[in-house]
Amino acid sequence: MSKDPKGRTEPGYERHVFVCGHERAEGASRPSCTHRGSLNLMRLLKTSAKKAGIKNVRVQKSGCLDFCEFGTTCVVYPEGVWYSLPDESSIEDVLTHLKTGKVAEHLRLELNE
Ligand code: FES
Repeated sequence: MSKDPKGRTEPGYERHVFVCGHERAEGASRPSCTHRGSLNLMRLLKTSAKKAGIKNVRVQKSGCLDFCEFGTTCVVYPEGVWYSLPDESSIEDVLTHLKTGKVAEHLRLELNE
């Protein structure tokens, strides 16, 4: 019998999402994702995934993912797909990724913009 309070028998998730929750002080040399509303986006993604009944997915905030100039930065594993989330309108497409595995190509983080 599992000792895990959620009844899990092995560690891990089908998909694991990290949304940058790093904050830098005003005037810092690099921007930070919290100033773009990343924590609200993370909470919205988390609650939306729960409401949609998407199982075995973990959405959580992370520290700086080091692509600060291109955020709000988000990465989904195991695919290792990196997203830049502009606002709440991007949440639905990330949810589709979590549900079906279909990557939201238009949200991919691009370094050459
Ligand atoms: S502050 Fe978000 S990636 Fe660095």
